[in-house]
Amino acid sequence: MSTSNDGNFVKTFGIVLGLLVFFMFTVMTIANIISPEHGDVDSQLARITRNIAPVGSVNTDPNAVQAAAPAAESREPRTGEQVVNAACAACHLAGVAGAPKLDDAADWQARLTAVGGIDGLVQSVINGKGGMPPRGGSDASDEEIRSAVAFIIGE
Ligand code: HEC
Repeated sequence: MSTSNDGNFVKTFGIVLGLLVFFMFTVMTIANIISPEHGDVDSQLARITRNIAPVGSVNTDPNAVQAAAPAAESREPRTGEQVVNAACAACHLAGVAGAPKLDDAADWQARLTAVGGIDGLVQSVINGKGGMPPRGGSDASDEEIRSAVAFIIGE
């Protein structure tokens, strides 16, 4: 009884194993046929390199950067009012981080005196001061910063 059970098992197992091996070769054959770039190791490596290439890259060529972002000097200079609205008002309108408010004439006058004139204020902006990043975080040229400061202090 048990011997015939063993025999049945071996037979069934053999059939199942055979089918699995047959299935494996079938899948491998189909995969080889439909894979468009199935080839030698070199072409497979090239494909992998392409597939895992980073989406972006860092461009360290200064000339290329210049071409992408024209220098501040190469465009038409903006007026003081334009610069203030675009780059300075965000902080100076409401007095963010202790920034002197645009309409606080006394504060501006005091600062003007403290740094010894408009040149000093322009330098403060170009270099940054306290909570203000250099150029107020903008790409304004020296000339535009000067116009902006002149506009703010009403000159
Ligand atoms: C991120 C906020 C911020 C932006 C943007 C910003 N400022 Fe300021 N600014 C400040 C703060 C804060 C101070 C006060 C710094 C201090 O006295 O410590 C200040 C001070 C100044 C002063 C007085 C400097 C001095 O020596 O007392 C001038 C002038 C000035 N800003 C002009 C500008 C101009 C022009 C722009 C735009 C190009 C600008 N700021 C953009 C935050 C800002």
